[in-house]
Amino acid sequence: PRVAVVVVAAGSGTRLAGGAPKAFVGVDGHTILHHALRSVFAAAPAQVVVVAPASRVGDALTEVDATAGDRRDLATVVAGGETRQDSVAAGLAALWADVEVVLVHDAARALTPPEVFARVIAAVDAGHDAVVPVLPVVDTLKRVADDVVVEAVDRSVLAAAQTPQGFRRAVLDAAYAAATAEFTDDTALVQHAGRAVHTVAGADLSFKITTQADLARARAIVAPVPP
Ligand code: CTP
Ligand code: MG
Repeated sequence: PRVAVVVVAAGSGTRLAGGAPKAFVGVDGHTILHHALRSVFAAAPAQVVVVAPASRVGDALTEVDATAGDRRDLATVVAGGETRQDSVAAGLAALWADVEVVLVHDAARALTPPEVFARVIAAVDAGHDAVVPVLPVVDTLKRVADDVVVEAVDRSVLAAAQTPQGFRRAVLDAAYAAATAEFTDDTALVQHAGRAVHTVAGADLSFKITTQADLARARAIVAPVPP
């Protein structure tokens, strides 16, 4: 395929403290990874590389089998690394030769709507080297030092970054090959390598499951409506 999605699911989920690596924590009858893969396989056909904790590669394959349907042959699972960046690098190493557009997606953003994948792919196809889905910031923000507000921050110039983040494959490969520092997301790494990063609209449903409160939100969304 021309497009690939690297789904990073190799984190431990320290802040969630859900009794298992985060991607394998249950939402309803299904895990966070199961929900994430359902949205990935509902998007445009692509190679899918799931990056799982080394001890959970078999469990990740089971989730791929359960969600890929007729796209099973497009999906592989590899073991991740110590940091998110190491895990993305492991995923990139598994890309097939014909892939030209790469999306990197957090499994923890389990309920991301398939339309967001389409928007990101369309923006890369329109010629952007790197694309990040964003939401406006809703909170009132303050710059703080030593428990004192230094100044109000104008939120209109700020945006909250989500995934999937999309890239021309050659740009992402080159940025990863050159990276010497840790970055919190892939567009930050690519921007550090000197490339412009374009934004598209993200989605409320793309929120990241980080804490128990986030998991409760995901559970409320996927719960069947009582009769
Ligand atoms: N991730 C990964 N490999 C790592 C660390 C993180 O693949 N070594 C993935 C996570 O599985 C998650 C995404 O990167 O889907 C975003 O990371 P985060 O939300 O921070 O997840 P964790 O690192 O698992 O959580 P925590 O930081 O609370 O331990
Ligand atoms: Mg983390």
